[in-house]
Formats: sequence, C-alpha cells, structure tokens
Amino acid sequence: MNYAAANSDLAALRTPCLGTSLSVAKRVARATGNAATLNRAITDFKDKAGEILCVNLDGPVARVLILGGADECSPTQYRKMATLVAQKLTGMNLSQAALHLVGTKVKGHGVAWKAQALMQALSHASYRFNTYKSKPKQPVSLKRVRLLANQGDQKALRAAIKLGSALDEGLTLAKDLGNEPPNVCTPTYLLGQARKMARAKDVSLTALDEKKMLSLGMGAFMSVSQGSDQPGKMIILRYNGGKKNDAPIALVGKGITFDTGGISLKPPPAMDEMKFDMCGAAAVLGVTKAAIGARLPINLVTVVAAAENMPSGRASRPGDIVTSASGQTIEILNTDAEGRLVLCDALTHVQSYKPKAIIDVATLTGACIMALGSHASGLFANDDELADAITQAGEISGDRSWRLPLWDEYQAGLNTNFADMANVGGRGAGSVTAACFLSRFVKGYKWAHMDIAGSSFNQGAAKGSSGRPVAQLFAYLVAESGL
Ligand code: BES
Ligand code: MN
Ligand code: ZN
Repeated sequence: MNYAAANSDLAALRTPCLGTSLSVAKRVARATGNAATLNRAITDFKDKAGEILCVNLDGPVARVLILGGADECSPTQYRKMATLVAQKLTGMNLSQAALHLVGTKVKGHGVAWKAQALMQALSHASYRFNTYKSKPKQPVSLKRVRLLANQGDQKALRAAIKLGSALDEGLTLAKDLGNEPPNVCTPTYLLGQARKMARAKDVSLTALDEKKMLSLGMGAFMSVSQGSDQPGKMIILRYNGGKKNDAPIALVGKGITFDTGGISLKPPPAMDEMKFDMCGAAAVLGVTKAAIGARLPINLVTVVAAAENMPSGRASRPGDIVTSASGQTIEILNTDAEGRLVLCDALTHVQSYKPKAIIDVATLTGACIMALGSHASGLFANDDELADAITQAGEISGDRSWRLPLWDEYQAGLNTNFADMANVGGRGAGSVTAACFLSRFVKGYKWAHMDIAGSSFNQGAAKGSSGRPVAQLFAYLVAESGL
C-alpha cells in the first residue's frame, strides 16, 4: 500500500472516498451542497463505535465512509475502528481513498500512533496469498491512501508513514513466508529470501551449512536436520544502521520448515499446519526487513535456525544423546521437541556477537496454546527490564504478549540419569520447561523467549499466517532506537 500525508483542508479535498467521523462528514456535505443527501442517509445511523455507513455524494468527494464514535474513543476502540474501515475500503472497488481519522481524540496517543494503527489495519486487510490459485478471488484494488491531518501534525504524520510503510513490508514478508507450502519453503528457500534482503544498504549475510555446523559442534541442531533430505541452514543477517561499535540486538527465529515430529511422529489431523513451524524465522526476518526499510538507527543480528523435522533412517531416536555447541549434553526423549534443539545451538552461536539483548521467537509448544490461546504470545525473560520493554511494545502495537514464569523450580523437570538434561520435562507447564531448557544456553546476556505457537497463525476458515509478532517486535525496536 502506498501512503501520503496530506493537509486536512476539506474545501480543497478531491477523492473517490473519504473515511471519517460523522461530524466531519456533515461538514463536507454542507460545503459541497450535499447536506440534504447526507441527512436523509443518516436517519438510522448511530454515532457509536462499531457503526459504519457509506454515503454517495455529488462533487469532489464522491463518497463518505462514516465511522461511528470517531470523535473520541479508547485505544482499543480506535483499533477496532481502524480494522472496520480497512476491511470496508479493501472490499470496495477503489484504487485510492483518503482517511480523516487521525483527528480522533484517543487518550494517551498522538497522531503517530493513530496513523500507524490505521496503516497496520490496512496492511492486514489488504493482504492476500494467491500465489497458487489459478483464479484468484477478491483482488484488492486499493493502492493508495492519503492520511489527512492538521498542518501542525504533518511532520509527525510523515515520520509515522515511513515507519508504517516499512512495517507493512515486514508483515507481508512474514505472512508470505509462513503461508508458502513446505515443499517450497525449505531451509534453502529461507536462505534465498535472506540473500535478497542482504542486497540492501548496511546489510550482510553469513550462512552456515551442515558441514560448518558440525565443525562448530552443533550436535543438537544436527540431530534434527540429519533426518531430512533438505540440508539445514543457520542463517545470519546483520544490519548496521546504528553506530559502528554499538552492541547489536539479537533476534533468533525457529525455522522448522515442516515438523512431522520425527520418529515421535505427530498424529495426522492438522499436520499440514506444521508448515507454520517456521513462523518464528518468518517473524524475525519480517521485523528485520521492516527495520532496514525504516532505516532504524540500531544494529541487529538476526539468526534463523532452519531445518526440517522428518522421520527417516537417519533421524534421531528417543534415547539418543547429543552434544550441543555449548558443550552440554542432551538426551532426546521426544524427537517432536525439536525446536529447542535447533534453537539452543543458535542461541550459543549468537552470543559470539556480544549482543545487548537476545530475543528468540518460536512456535515452540502446544502447551502455550493451552495456556494462552491465540490472543497473546507467551513471553519469558531472564531480565525484567527487557520483559517490560517487550510487553510495552505489545500494548503500543496491539500485538500483545503475556509473561509466564521462568522459576528455578521448573528446571528440575529436565533432569535425566543419562545426560546433562533431557529435551522434555514432565506433564505440566510444557511451555515453561521448554523455556527453561533454552535458558540453560544463555549465560551472561539479557534474553527473552517468545512462544508464538498460538499467535502466529490462524486455524480453520481463516487459516493462514498472522504476521505476529512482527508489529510488536518492530515497536520494541522503534522504542530502542529512541524514535
Ligand atoms: N511445533 C511444535 C509446537 C506447536 C504445536 C506449534 C502446535 C504450533 C501448533 C513443537 O515442535 C512440538 O511439537 N512441541 C511438542 C513438545 C512436546 C513433545 C514436549 C508439543 O507441544 O507437543
Ligand atoms: Mn515438534
Ligand atoms: Zn516444532
């Protein structure tokens, strides 16, 4: 979507469709000689949240799309309104539109937040994945949206548009990667996508192949990858938008391009959804793309642990013991707990970049879906400040997480008689023991883990990647940039 900032000079406005409040719609109607038409159309319209009405006018504003309750509302109501107007606009046969909605009073939020909420809603509403449909249905014709604001707000609006446009691209990339079928989106495919990103200014790429990973002692990663005919990849993208010697923020993504469970094979129902087991990788690549596009003044190191979890003659068995790159040994009791195995070696590796914080993102446990459903991502951290910053970014972006405990008491679940640890805990608190496992591979760094098993994709009729938590992580990076 293409965005432009424009002045809210209603007298000079010319557009096929203006989305706005009832009070502004009345002003437009009066100024263009449409007062009687509008009055007739709004007899049954209630000016309250959740209401929307399209009225055709004569003159330079061909339609007004009236949003109820748009003079003043809560942040939650504003997001709902943004979704409503975005869905309506993308369902109409229009190539362009104007929105006069950043004037709404929203407690605690200014023009930039409102503009970004509108852009985020439009990004979601206009997304389609039609690559493999012979006859794509419901194409979106909307290409260009003008956001209207007062003269004094133009600078803030332009800055918000820069961020919102970059986020739009990051969200789209994350969703596309998630939705690609697993016969296309392999570890090698993810590497190709990262290569494309590395063409941008101040971005560089390193890829570790299996030979290199073996030489680095990544026995945990390899125990997963060895069962597949698709070669695993550890992908490292660096973006240096900040000062040369500033420590980078590290993002680590689980990139299991298909999770059969391995020898601990998953049951058939909904196994196709395990193509989404690389959504952590998609999210860290998506937010990296957004950061690059917005030219955020920070340094990033993004690591994708990409492998396929397959059963085969070379696959690992329950009972196998492997040595991770950290030197710690792991008894694999369940080959379906593979995410932590690829992540632990990625976490060890990323610490060589001396990051100021590490955030890993993973569709790690079904237990997280049991605990939180799809509305919140699970959040774990060994540092309260980092946890609070990520939580705050969730509130700002509307893409929220909920913190779960990482107490020592849970660590004992990973005890085994045969190695330093097992790769699974007991029956309870599966997402906590998974996080406990990862915590053992981060020493002396601020670290957070996000379990996005529930939030990263939708099931049922709306099946598809949600792009989460790209918006949340982007808000975190924007705040870290001091913007
Ligand atoms: N990729 C799955 C977790 C998952 C489940 C993500 C459903 C999205 C939707 C992960 O690799 C897995 O299989 N986890 C196991 C862990 C168990 C063996 C300890 C699980 O959650 O059952
Ligand atoms: Mn699994
Ligand atoms: Zn998995």
